[in-house]
Amino acid sequence: VASHFAQLGPNLLRWSGPGGTFDHEVAPDVFMPSLTSEAIVEALETIDVLGTVVDVGCGGGFLSVVAARLGAARVVAIDVSVDATQLARRNAARAGVADRVSVVCADGIEALRQDHGAVDVLINDISGVPDAVATRLGWYPGGHTSAGDGITLPLRVIDGSARVLRPDTGRLVQPLGSVQFTPALRRRLDHLYSRRIAAAYRQFFLPKQQFSGDLADINALRAQGRMRLWEARGLLWWDAEVLVCSGLRRPGTGPQSSARS
Ligand SMILES: C[S@@+](CC[C@H](N)C(=O)[O-])C[C@H]1O[C@@H](n2cnc3c(N)ncnc32)[C@H](O)[C@@H]1O
Repeated sequence: VASHFAQLGPNLLRWSGPGGTFDHEVAPDVFMPSLTSEAIVEALETIDVLGTVVDVGCGGGFLSVVAARLGAARVVAIDVSVDATQLARRNAARAGVADRVSVVCADGIEALRQDHGAVDVLINDISGVPDAVATRLGWYPGGHTSAGDGITLPLRVIDGSARVLRPDTGRLVQPLGSVQFTPALRRRLDHLYSRRIAAAYRQFFLPKQQFSGDLADINALRAQGRMRLWEARGLLWWDAEVLVCSGLRRPGTGPQSSARS
């Protein structure tokens, strides 16, 4: 799938895709929108009414801007990084949606403790790539991946989503990459949501320069079944899908409780 981004200058991209055409600034210390970000846009497009959106781990604000331009009434963009939130504010203004995008510099997990049941769509694109991959890719600039095993933060956001989403209509937009331990994420999603659709799917290869030589850490994760990569055409491949989850289960009606009854 071709990217909708074109490079205009060293720190400036132009997006021509869902939500129209706008320029998007990037910065060396902030996560740059990736092909996974583009897959998340595809998932957002499947949602008829975006309403109030919370974008956890907003980086430079790309998904928040697209959500606003796709018609969201209000977007709250949250990131723990000061540089990311400053950039997200500039990007919202540049794309003409600053009036609908509020950018908050905070820990996303804490932020989800405070809001209750009024959010229509929660985007969970918080750091979720294990350090073993992120450091090789140079993702999470400055070496601060904060992702650890790649599932701890996303799992905590999934738990928080059940507190903040509207019980009947709320939706969680959840990217799952095979470099993460996806079975653990799927189990938690199944526990909390009764429906999920796979709204977007991508395959990627890992750059050979960074993924050759000593791969003991990566191979250990693969051997434990915590990371799924495959070899083809001399490269290591991974994939990602983006789920749109809905049908929040009321407490006590999860799959385990019904199995017991
Ligand atoms: C995958 S990047 C987000 C990319 C962005 N959605 C985009 O499409 O450009 C993950 C982001 O999560 C942020 N992050 C990491 N830990 C966080 C936390 N505890 N609370 C909020 N944001 C966090 C990182 O600073 C990073 O910007």
